[in-house]
Amino acid sequence: MILLWQIDTEVAPSWLSLMQTAADCALLTEGVKRECAVSIRLCDDDAIHEINREYRDVDRATDVLSFPTVNYPAGVTAGQADKYLRRELDDELNACMLGDLILSVPHVLAQAEEYGHSPERECAYLLVHGLCHLMGYDHIEEDDKRRMRAMEEKILAAIGQTRDGEGAVTDETLLALAREAMKRSYSPYSNYPVGAALLCADGRIFQGCNIENASFGLTNCAERTAMFKAISEGATEFTAIAIASRQSAPWPCGACRQVLNEFAPGIRVLVTWDGGQDEMSLNELLPHGFGPKDVQ
Ligand code: THU
Repeated sequence: MILLWQIDTEVAPSWLSLMQTAADCALLTEGVKRECAVSIRLCDDDAIHEINREYRDVDRATDVLSFPTVNYPAGVTAGQADKYLRRELDDELNACMLGDLILSVPHVLAQAEEYGHSPERECAYLLVHGLCHLMGYDHIEEDDKRRMRAMEEKILAAIGQTRDGEGAVTDETLLALAREAMKRSYSPYSNYPVGAALLCADGRIFQGCNIENASFGLTNCAERTAMFKAISEGATEFTAIAIASRQSAPWPCGACRQVLNEFAPGIRVLVTWDGGQDEMSLNELLPHGFGPKDVQ
């Protein structure tokens, strides 16, 4: 999902990457097949108060506000509403605009403290709640409320952010996110699209795709795209990487094995392609690897 940020108040990059993961999983879990976009504003209490008063006639600050663009028929949500989503296609973004979300940063911090979890988790929770509204869910009637809560829980469980914190990102989620990332591959020269989804110990997931270049040797593989994104966002520990392609099992190339070995020597490597699925550890894929310990 394309997240269009307006950030008024300073926040840690880890908030944004967990929200990206949550948003991608929301579409996946709801079964939305086309690319969507949402504009998200992170602001202070004065700003959200003002918006709440102006657009909803509610004279107080709150944690999250959602303004959907899509007009869903009663009882229909985004997963079964492709016809309605298509109407909101933004030509420039090549994605359907689902609407706007506004999150109060002071509320995120206060609620995280109150519930005893991280601000990242609180952000993810509020984002998922808001996104469910943008996907056609509401909680006015008891039945609708139950349906909305069930979807929220399903999305949060898929990214390992359950209420009791005991969930883990499932292999299915990671593999599905790698397949999603593959759709964004830039591979006009090889026609061999690859996608990757790298799971960090803190629950964040970084996606990557292969990015080719007219000067062929400059191509960056999907795995390294994901790993470089993760390192540059401050991630330090990794538990698994899923890699997706179409034609053949996309075991990482030698260069990617070496880069993975630098940061995650024991990482689980899951591959998926049209013909099947497999798993190995990096130790098996790169026996006797050369790593940081050898140059100390
Ligand atoms: N590729 C990857 O993205 N990951 C690998 O580990 C193997 C190869 C990409 C690079 C190039 O864009 C295309 O696949 C064909 O080599």
